[in-house]
Amino acid sequence: MEREIKEKIKYLLYPESVAVIGASRNPKKIGFQVVYNLIKDGYKGRIYPINPNADEILGLKCYPNILDVPGEVDLAMIVVPASKVLDVLRDSIEKGVKAVAIITSGFSEIGNKELEDAIVDMCRKNKIPLLGPNIVGVLNTDHNMNLSFCPNLPFKGRITFITQSGALAIGLIGWTWASRIGISKLVSIGNMAMLGFEELIEYLEEDMDTDAILLYMEGVKNGRLFAEVSRNVSRKKPIIAIKAGKSERGAKAAASHTGSLAGNVMLYETAFKYAGVVSADGLEDGFDKALALSLQPPLKGDNIVVVTNGGGAGVLSSDYAETFGIPLRDIPVDLMDTVKNLIPPFGSPKNPIDLTGNAYRDDYIRVLDAVLRHPWVDGVVSIYVHAAITDPVEIADGIAYVWKNYREKPITVCMIGGREVLVANTWLRDNGIPVYPTPKRAMAAMAALREYGRFLERYGNEG
Ligand code: ACO
Repeated sequence: MEREIKEKIKYLLYPESVAVIGASRNPKKIGFQVVYNLIKDGYKGRIYPINPNADEILGLKCYPNILDVPGEVDLAMIVVPASKVLDVLRDSIEKGVKAVAIITSGFSEIGNKELEDAIVDMCRKNKIPLLGPNIVGVLNTDHNMNLSFCPNLPFKGRITFITQSGALAIGLIGWTWASRIGISKLVSIGNMAMLGFEELIEYLEEDMDTDAILLYMEGVKNGRLFAEVSRNVSRKKPIIAIKAGKSERGAKAAASHTGSLAGNVMLYETAFKYAGVVSADGLEDGFDKALALSLQPPLKGDNIVVVTNGGGAGVLSSDYAETFGIPLRDIPVDLMDTVKNLIPPFGSPKNPIDLTGNAYRDDYIRVLDAVLRHPWVDGVVSIYVHAAITDPVEIADGIAYVWKNYREKPITVCMIGGREVLVANTWLRDNGIPVYPTPKRAMAAMAALREYGRFLERYGNEG
């Protein structure tokens, strides 16, 4: 990517002023929603609605053309029909905008490649980064910027989510709040006419607000470039990819959705492996892994210990540990002896360690402390099955209390229960501990931490 274009990507993600071209007076139109969302969610930059037929929109002075705006404009967000895009883009360039994003659909995804090529040419000649067309927008929680027609900003955090599907972005925002999965930026890339995964990942390498990069991907523009860029960036921050369009039908659907070539599944998996990109099986798995990788350190060895108050959950986690390539091993005799003295005689000091159903906060603290302290142990999966005699919030508090002394060793938690465990889950996530409702998901998250750890061992951690 040309250096000048790369440097200007910051104006897409952190603009200080935005012109919304096609800002509408009609609340049912996208051009209205974009302006409304900027105001509603507290964007602090300058907003310039552009519409030749209106004087004012939502209390903001409206300009007939971007060329009439008195101040500088960092970003032009275009929301006029496809037939008008070239004209308003030409004006935006004349105005001297530093970046352009186009929400409008009706380009290569429906075969209108000529028009798409024309807008790319215009932007490239003028060294302006172009996001889209056919996107839902750009959201930045650190700057309260909801420059999109998504109803809300996502829950604030340190994952940047780059998605080819705008609709998924809209739906998943609610999810991030319900599950407290923290998002820094949500970038919809639609047709990727100019900027795709390759360029954004490269940019995010230096982004101070991003700890992990999550991708919803139908296809990439340039497989080789994607692999090289991702491999480089993976050394600093984890990248997780949800690859869609794996089936024949799915691939066809991807072609008409964003004009993407979904490609050969094996090729993608090989590229992910080479690049250290953690592959996710669908949305749930993608967000689970992104949560773990954004909050926890990579798992540096293969020795994980399961600590549970439920035997069945322990058995299941043993099975999944094997399925996910991190089989549980026997713990050293000295650790087993220590644990034996900390649990009831009817518990099990082996791996998984079964604290039994009457394990309270202090029991979790004592055993987790002994386990995490031991040099053989690389990471812990801690499981709690809600029992009437214990308070999940107290258990969660105990787990977090111990883990804060061993932050270099990753922990994932599984809390099994109904409404009673929801507050505990929130509390854990807010304290940097990824928590999941099933042993399978907690173990899959640990396996992702190991996968990333192995990549760093092979290629060095410069981060
Ligand atoms: N400059 C500025 N404003 C103009 C201009 C101009 N040259 N010409 C017209 N306008 C105004 C219009 O007057 C109108 O405002 P008004 O409602 O106050 O009269 C406003 O711009 C919008 O123009 P419309 O012609 O009403 O266009 P409409 O809002 O119906 O549609 C849109 C525009 C939303 C861009 C549509 O063409 C479109 O592409 N929709 C799909 C968007 C989408 O789904 N994107 C992809 C997301 S999913 C994914 O990521 C795959």
